[in-house]
Amino acid sequence: MVTTRHTAQLSAVELTEIRAFLDAAFGDFSDQDWEHGLGGQHALVREDGVLVAHGSLVMRRLLVGGRSLRTGYVEGVAVRPDRRRRGYGAEVMAALEALAPVYDVLALSASDEGIPLYEARGWRLWRGPTSVLGPSGPEPTPDDDGSIYVLGGEGLDQDAPIACDHRAGDVW
Ligand SMILES: CC(C)(COP(=O)(O)OP(=O)(O)OC[C@H]1O[C@@H](n2cnc3c(N)ncnc32)[C@H](O)[C@@H]1OP(=O)(O)O)[C@@H](O)C(=O)NCCC(=O)NCCS
Repeated sequence: MVTTRHTAQLSAVELTEIRAFLDAAFGDFSDQDWEHGLGGQHALVREDGVLVAHGSLVMRRLLVGGRSLRTGYVEGVAVRPDRRRRGYGAEVMAALEALAPVYDVLALSASDEGIPLYEARGWRLWRGPTSVLGPSGPEPTPDDDGSIYVLGGEGLDQDAPIACDHRAGDVW
């Protein structure tokens, strides 16, 4: 069963466990990747107390057509390799998607492996060009074009340019 906890409600032991889990799941999970998933709600699935799936939702700002969208941004979605295709990824996403009513839109940057999960759940590809509001002004992020997915945000033009707020590490 999935449980949700704010980062502030997790003990140091739980945070260490989640970090180790994400290191193992992604292989190249950096300190910045870790930091990106903190400060929001974590969805956790355990089997006999052992973590087998995780995802988190943090707030950030995305700019589209002159609007600053209050965005629930999904980070750190992973399922233990030997527990995949059992619905745990879907459970994690359902728990995070349930938080949608407090945001203008939900968004995420999908890995190739994540795309089937997100598309199966109705997430839509953002087709417009991506950029970041960098410290020195807007900068295109062409490597991220075609990998951003959104849920909700009805009426948004998905062919329009989209910009994210700045952060260290991967900005999307
Ligand atoms: C992506 C990931 C989280 C999916 O987790 P999962 O527990 O296997 O996903 P689920 O079992 O809940 O899948 C739910 C549905 O999503 C779709 N889906 C998920 N993975 C799929 C795949 N590899 N191929 C096709 N469809 C897939 C299917 O519709 C699936 O339903 P089904 O099994 O009844 O066909 C998991 O593969 C993973 O941890 N990958 C490595 C880390 C990663 O890339 N995370 C995403 C970061 S953006």
